[in-house]
Amino acid sequence: MKQTVYVTKKLPEELYRRLSSQFEVRMWGEEETPVPREILLKEVAEVDGLYCFITDTIDKEVFAQAKKLKVVSTCSVGYNHIDVQAAAEKGVKVGYTPGVLTETTADLTFALLMATARRVVEASNILHNGKWGSWSLMQMTGQDIYGATLGIIGLGRIGEALVKRAKGFDMKVLYNSRTRKPEKEAELGIEYVDLKGLLHQSDFVCLMLPYSAEVHHLIGREELALMKKNAILINTARGGIVDEDALYEALNNGIIWGAGLDVFEQEPVSLNNPLLTLPNVVALPHIGSASVQTRLGMAHMAADNLIHVLNGNVGKANVVRN
Ligand code: DGY
Repeated sequence: MKQTVYVTKKLPEELYRRLSSQFEVRMWGEEETPVPREILLKEVAEVDGLYCFITDTIDKEVFAQAKKLKVVSTCSVGYNHIDVQAAAEKGVKVGYTPGVLTETTADLTFALLMATARRVVEASNILHNGKWGSWSLMQMTGQDIYGATLGIIGLGRIGEALVKRAKGFDMKVLYNSRTRKPEKEAELGIEYVDLKGLLHQSDFVCLMLPYSAEVHHLIGREELALMKKNAILINTARGGIVDEDALYEALNNGIIWGAGLDVFEQEPVSLNNPLLTLPNVVALPHIGSASVQTRLGMAHMAADNLIHVLNGNVGKANVVRN
């Protein structure tokens, strides 16, 4: 008898066919609306594998329902939406998609940095709203990128890929991470500084670290106060790393100059979120990895992980090792 798999969002046909060739596949029929909680809880009770996304909260309650679940495979590199400890206690492997989205996410991070620094969205809106007036000396002036100092918090794969882009703009790159990486300092030409030093010296601060309870609101009022007045904060990691109330205050009161945000504490972000009222915020709907090639690559890698675990080849799968 075939093993069974539940997929929490509609997958492209090629992925569905791939999984169906090996397993009995049930799938939530919507692409944009996440599976309702009660359906997820019901479906997970019956399956061997769960293929999910960052929009699904896979917590203790979900694992408690599972009777024969062997793998939860998320189509994302981040797995903070999955209770990995509850998974381990239940003997369930957690698959994720490292590597495949590195360059694409670094591209978007740098694009957001540039768009924020050079007020690209605001300037485009001015033109479209008929407010161009005429060319004037200080109109729509932003911040220089070339030659500026970039501070990266979290030097994983994506952080490193960002360094390469920054070097092309002759930026000085500082980094802070849990573990210092001397070999990377020499290889990439970057300098380790403590968090306070990084916030104090950087023109751009990019958050490139995975989210966990330990880094919840890592950037709050005190940290923002240490930043330069011309500084720009870029977050393409997870919304919970930044205290959004403190960020709003800092942006509104000129404590820092701007922010580029691809992620929010609540997603989708509410249109009532005060950050969206600020002209010095460029806001995107969590599209860091959103290129056609990369999203398909992630979807296939998540399928590979699920297939490997269900076929007893855990060693070949990208699973959280704990
Ligand atoms: C991830 O993979 O964790 C991103 O946030 C979505 O691509």
